[in-house]
Amino acid sequence: MSIKTSIKEHFTNNHLNIRNHFENGSLKSHWDYFFQDNLELALSNQIHLEGDLNLRRVLGFRRFSWGDLDECACLFKNVFSADPWYDEWVSLDQSRNYLKELIKNPVFEGFVMCEDSKIMAACLGHRRSWWMGKEFFVDEFFVENERQGNGIGTKTVDLLVNTLREDGYTRITLLTNKNIPAEAFYLKNGFYNNEERTVMVKEL
Ligand SMILES: CC(C)(COP(=O)(O)OP(=O)(O)OC[C@H]1O[C@@H](n2cnc3c(N)ncnc32)[C@H](O)[C@@H]1OP(=O)(O)O)[C@@H](O)C(=O)NCCC(=O)NCCS
Repeated sequence: MSIKTSIKEHFTNNHLNIRNHFENGSLKSHWDYFFQDNLELALSNQIHLEGDLNLRRVLGFRRFSWGDLDECACLFKNVFSADPWYDEWVSLDQSRNYLKELIKNPVFEGFVMCEDSKIMAACLGHRRSWWMGKEFFVDEFFVENERQGNGIGTKTVDLLVNTLREDGYTRITLLTNKNIPAEAFYLKNGFYNNEERTVMVKEL
């Protein structure tokens, strides 16, 4: 059993006392790292609907590691091949290569949200040391198709913001399409549209 799994199990068995300890002090973010209660509650509702009353799932937010590449490439391909993007990723190799390019960037930073050990959301980006401060640029953000609309993206943004603040970041920027659900999602999560900016493209 991994150290992290042992810690999770220990805390699950001592749920209330340990939780109070974490919430009363500066260690709250560590509590968040192992347990995301609201989300867990939302998911336990789903589990209830599936008739699996005894199953208790542990959710975790952590940094991306190279071992996550294949799982993320598969998730990425499934998500962006579907509505509203309909990207034409022809193979897993293609999406894996694309993500590999992002990850090899020396200033890459990535995060994943897991249920037990399964990745259900990922946020992959990179650092930009701008004159106004350290900025996190989101290259890709995606939640497993069947899990979208259940608060996972919002929780991931919350945890991302906490982590980046602790790391000295001062802003998050990203590009997305206008008039798609993702735009509404970002607006609801405190992002704003920079009307002074435009995206320029030259086809070659
Ligand atoms: C955009 C995305 C990351 C949001 O995560 P999420 O877990 O689905 O979002 P949440 O449940 O936390 O928030 C729900 C809100 O986000 C918006 N939303 C965006 N995509 C949605 C979807 N597929 N289903 C439901 N709501 C969605 C809605 O405004 C919704 O608010 P509402 O419930 O009041 O209608 C996720 O839906 C996703 O991966 N979409 C496909 C890939 C994508 O577009 N990524 C962003 C590219 S920059």
